[in-house]
Amino acid sequence: MNAAPDEVTPDSGIAGALPPGERFWRRLGGVAFGGDYNPEQWPAETRAEDLRLMAEARVNLVTVGVFAWARVEPARGAYDFSFFDRVLDDLHAHGITADLATMTASPPPWLVHEHPEILPVTADGTVLGPGGRQHFCPSSPVYRERAGLLAERLATHYRGHPALGLWHVGNEYGCHIAACYCAESAAGFRRWLRERYGDDVEALNDAWSTDFWSQRFASFDHVQPPRAAPTYPNPAQQLDYMRFSSEALRECFELEAGILRRITPEVPITTNFLGGLKSVDVFDWAPRLDVVAVDSYPDPLDERPHLAPGLVYDTMRGAGGGAPWILMEQAPSAVNWRARNAIKQPGQMRLWSWQAVAHGADAVLFFQWRQSRGGAEKFHSGMVPHAGADSRVYREIAALGQELASVPGLLGTRVRNDVAILLDWNSWWALELDSHPSDGVRQQERLLEHYTPLFDLGVGVDVVPPSADLTGYALVVVPNLYLLPSRDAARLSAYVQGGGALVVSFFSGIVDEHDRVHLGGYPAPLREVLGVRVEEFCPAAEHETFPVRGCEALADHEGVAGLWREDLRLTGARPELVFDAPGWAGRPVATRHEYGAGTARYLSARLDEATMRAILGRAAAEAGVKPVVEGLPSGVQASVRAGDGRRFLILLNHTGDKHDVALTGEWADGLAGLDEPVGTVTLPPLGVAVLRATG
Ligand code: GAL
Repeated sequence: MNAAPDEVTPDSGIAGALPPGERFWRRLGGVAFGGDYNPEQWPAETRAEDLRLMAEARVNLVTVGVFAWARVEPARGAYDFSFFDRVLDDLHAHGITADLATMTASPPPWLVHEHPEILPVTADGTVLGPGGRQHFCPSSPVYRERAGLLAERLATHYRGHPALGLWHVGNEYGCHIAACYCAESAAGFRRWLRERYGDDVEALNDAWSTDFWSQRFASFDHVQPPRAAPTYPNPAQQLDYMRFSSEALRECFELEAGILRRITPEVPITTNFLGGLKSVDVFDWAPRLDVVAVDSYPDPLDERPHLAPGLVYDTMRGAGGGAPWILMEQAPSAVNWRARNAIKQPGQMRLWSWQAVAHGADAVLFFQWRQSRGGAEKFHSGMVPHAGADSRVYREIAALGQELASVPGLLGTRVRNDVAILLDWNSWWALELDSHPSDGVRQQERLLEHYTPLFDLGVGVDVVPPSADLTGYALVVVPNLYLLPSRDAARLSAYVQGGGALVVSFFSGIVDEHDRVHLGGYPAPLREVLGVRVEEFCPAAEHETFPVRGCEALADHEGVAGLWREDLRLTGARPELVFDAPGWAGRPVATRHEYGAGTARYLSARLDEATMRAILGRAAAEAGVKPVVEGLPSGVQASVRAGDGRRFLILLNHTGDKHDVALTGEWADGLAGLDEPVGTVTLPPLGVAVLRATG
């Protein structure tokens, strides 16, 4: 049953005219804790136990109904929300907020039966069948219509329900279906191109360099998606198709979000991004969400499994303009979809949950509450596992929920860093196109090769797009920003001119937005600021390495380069690192250029970790960037969250050893709620400490 409309505003009186995202956090009042809740998979009796355990674990937010379309609309137009009415009423009765899904992530069998044309098609023409999930073409008018109708019915039905705190549109858009190549998508692509190129086919021909290989178009009607072809399809066409596909998915999100905003304007809207996913341009999407949310599934078997998620979290915070974000999904322990699915060791789930908080998350959620009994994910861990509540996993979950609820004042504090790493989805897409000098330059790897040394230096990072305001950053790091429109290059030059410190890695500033090379010597739009000029790339053979040695301030340093080399000519820059290899000895690898009031460094090869640390360490020190805490043991992370006169220091021990961290300043134990000053914190293996500033 729904509440009467006058009871509806869950936070009435508290938040007034605050934006929906802000209202959401105020409503929760503390760090949110919970997970995907799928009671439709269980007999009704289980719910009583669920609610009891949720109360014990201090769950206050659950995601409901993500894959429930077939249940609420078992036949065309036959909507039946009675099951979820009871669920939402029960949640409300237990003080739990619902992140209610629009249920459109997995079209029901009847819809596929009636309209098989909604099924997605791969680049080689294979029609993907139902039976999994996300089996819809993002451009399908039928899918969009039915999804919109469901969103409308849901919003109308649940408008004013006191449990409804957040809308969860779709699920991990682009995770399984990055792009569809069916006839409907082709038509959508043509419409998109007409708009992008002002209905001028010559503008398209120019942008796509179609005089190459006789690809000149006489009409937009002749354009196809970049389907499987005898050899490399036109790269600009591929790039535009990635843009189009991200936007087609975004339109699905926006269609539903528009309906929800019209009917329930007070309820904030999110969708869960998948961390590290290439197909969806998070920086383009994020401003259309009220709260950014992300799913994160690090592999416990990785050597340093916390680094890639850290990069994802810093990206999500950057996408949301620094606002708090939701860790929407993580595994309580093992997943089911890797070849070998390792469990999280005791303490690891807690550590990685606090890691998200340390990066600015104000909500820690899991997939899923109760481990499924049947279906493809029955061996994916749940907060309540098959073994039941008498289990290590549930005990750790309950302890974490209680712990997160015990730190007053943390909510709403923010993370801010002095170092920015630039990431751009357009450049990522273009960087990894085929027919490049080397296929070894991969965006995520290269990002991590810049992120890791900064992490090891104890320096926090914001990941932002090139269009972000960089003026507040002391140091800007640019890992392989292959596609760089001249206007963004000019902003980077202006940043240095104005006193900024810039570090740019090879194969940056190479092409414009249409994947056309900036001429006159690489990296043309950055040549002046970097004080270098490159005529030729000399990519390395696989496993080929070249010794390098430092000069000037790095005089004693010896290291190794690989993957890439350039015949680097200096036009103002001074070498900071040179090759020590036969034939190349003494030729510059890394340079430093004073430009205007700032400094610009260039790295023309992939450098080993210690060398990256040495160079980025120098750049950071020169720019006045300090570690969050001086002298941290290796593998221990520190992060400060601050705001409204409150300050928290979170220490995370990512190692298997015990470490002591000596603190300067006035800190008290934020978890134990004590006021006594803490001088040295002892972190057990995988340990966490949360300190509250007292001074
Ligand atoms: C996510 C997805 C969830 C669940 C989970 C398993 O990608 O959103 O529904 O499948 O993976 O790890």
